[in-house]
Amino acid sequence: MSLVSFGEGQPVPIRPKVTTLKIHEKKLRREPITCLTAYDYATSRLVDEAGIDMILVGDSLAQVVLGYDNTMPVTMEEMLHHTRAVRRAVKSALVIADMPFGSYHGETAEGVRNAVRFVKEAGAEAVKLEGGAQRVELIKRVLDAEIPVMGHIGLTPQSVHKMGGYKVQGKDLGGIERLVKDAIALDRAGVFALVLEGLPREVAAMITHEVSTPTIGIGAGPECDGQVLVFHDIVSLTFAPPAKFVRRYADASSLISNAVHQFISDVESGSYPSDEESYHLPKETKAEFEAIMRRKQLKAYSH
Ligand code: KIV
Repeated sequence: MSLVSFGEGQPVPIRPKVTTLKIHEKKLRREPITCLTAYDYATSRLVDEAGIDMILVGDSLAQVVLGYDNTMPVTMEEMLHHTRAVRRAVKSALVIADMPFGSYHGETAEGVRNAVRFVKEAGAEAVKLEGGAQRVELIKRVLDAEIPVMGHIGLTPQSVHKMGGYKVQGKDLGGIERLVKDAIALDRAGVFALVLEGLPREVAAMITHEVSTPTIGIGAGPECDGQVLVFHDIVSLTFAPPAKFVRRYADASSLISNAVHQFISDVESGSYPSDEESYHLPKETKAEFEAIMRRKQLKAYSH
């Protein structure tokens, strides 16, 4: 692995581009696949440089970035805007754009057009959409347009009203049967990966065994081929108690809050900015400048 230096930071190892093919090979080699959401330049760059396999520009940005109550209101334009920022930051990870609610729920042709927009206008390398067997026709059409598709079944947040809340799915035999049928239908349709969200680990394990596509779990236990979490959850940048499956790796809320309190206090006390944090006149200008200032003072004094 060679090294390259970005700007003034530490040298960052260059790693090979992650492709959908490489994701599939990881499943075959039983190597865990890693995925995180990201929505902007700075965090995407850090997540990519840390070595993640895939970055999902999730529609969870509706809540964690835009402050909506659920994922429903986020628009195509908002998703495109954030996907572009992520694209500019990411060198190696596979960039997947999440298709927002309403962008693929009507005519198939409109769904395909919207998927194409993510690739053409925002540089995404794949799209994700929620739903089971009812999405097979659309998925095939998007694949015909040369765009890899990630499926997403189980607790699908865009179905919150239909599900009657954010509930773990597949808890009875009927539910398990539906999920397995959906997973097999999506696998056969050709999704390059399948998100399993909010399922008992036993059900996710069974699906992972049944399908050839890699399964990426979120609240679906350790037997999935990979795991995805929301970036803001793992760094504690959310304002509600975390779900059971979230593991916190940092406390960004406290870090940011402390930094802002410190800045306010330094400005109010006059300790910021210091002389070292100020620009100074060059020597040659300084002497002349001081002479002008002295003349001004004398003039003001003589009036
Ligand atoms: O929008 C999102 O963040 C997702 C996940 C799978 C985490 O869909």
